[in-house]
Amino acid sequence: MDHTKFIEAQVEEIRNTVGKGCAINALSGGVDSSVVTMLGHRALGDRLKTFFVDNSLMREGEPQRVVKTFAKLGIPAKLVDARAEFLSALKGLTDPEQKREAITQTFYAKVFSRLVRETGAKFLLHGTILTDIEETVAGIKRQHNILAQIGIKPEEAFGYAVLEPLRTLRKDGVRAVAKTLGLPAFIANRMPFPGPALAARIVGEVTAEKLALVRKATAIVEEELAGAKVFQYFATLLGDQATGIRNGKREFGAVVVLRCVNSVDARKATVTRLPWAKLDRICKRITQIPNVNRCVYDLTPKPPATIEYV
Ligand code: XMP
Repeated sequence: MDHTKFIEAQVEEIRNTVGKGCAINALSGGVDSSVVTMLGHRALGDRLKTFFVDNSLMREGEPQRVVKTFAKLGIPAKLVDARAEFLSALKGLTDPEQKREAITQTFYAKVFSRLVRETGAKFLLHGTILTDIEETVAGIKRQHNILAQIGIKPEEAFGYAVLEPLRTLRKDGVRAVAKTLGLPAFIANRMPFPGPALAARIVGEVTAEKLALVRKATAIVEEELAGAKVFQYFATLLGDQATGIRNGKREFGAVVVLRCVNSVDARKATVTRLPWAKLDRICKRITQIPNVNRCVYDLTPKPPATIEYV
């Protein structure tokens, strides 16, 4: 199906399903949720209530930046402060799947349930793509936004139905639809960022302190590699610590991994051969972050690794 026909079909389906009611959606600023926002807005106009949920797991300045970008596109997105709720749900959890489950529950059972009650909406529009479904069903990892495919009935469990207009597309298809919808190139080409956000970039327990650290490392990597023609680059904070030397004294500090990979659709990935000078510079900047005394570059393709660590 060509992209214009895909858009028309999805707009029609959203309109028919929602009928005269209204729907909500959560915009994160990534290409998937941005495309869903555009489709939903085209189908429903102001009967689509768009929210940016600040879950404390986003990158530096991201909530405000995304809301501003969509305001310029004529789509109001309301900022919801759910930072404390997510941090308390993640407290004490170290297992990746438990962390994902806590994020899922906080989004779906708490925040979205509250938002549908407040708006009177019966539907949630969702940016799930085919790769999310496949990897979850294959048991590789539970993507935070997968419900029906693993037997959760959102209407019974949470009190609203979920529409997934992108469920047949992969990332490359979503980007093409984004361009056809007229989304700016910086959104259409935006690097993937996982649903569990920086919680997927911390191995082990997520705390406000670790989030602050990984947020700084992320900002450095994104600044240094901006414009690189690669699929994805990011920093991850490992759960282990390492010995280092700071100001002539022993320090037992944090280890940050730099990852930079090429991929078409995230099913397989190869490692980018970054110039040594660039690696060196990133390492120097990352180890200037207090308590970080080691920065390593991950040479593992997917498979056997996945792209993210969590
Ligand atoms: P993995 O780590 O499975 O990631 O190779 C494939 C792509 O999906 C992005 N992504 C996620 N990864 N949990 C994840 O671990 C999620 O909920 C999620 N959502 C998206 C990831 O960044 C990579 O591009």
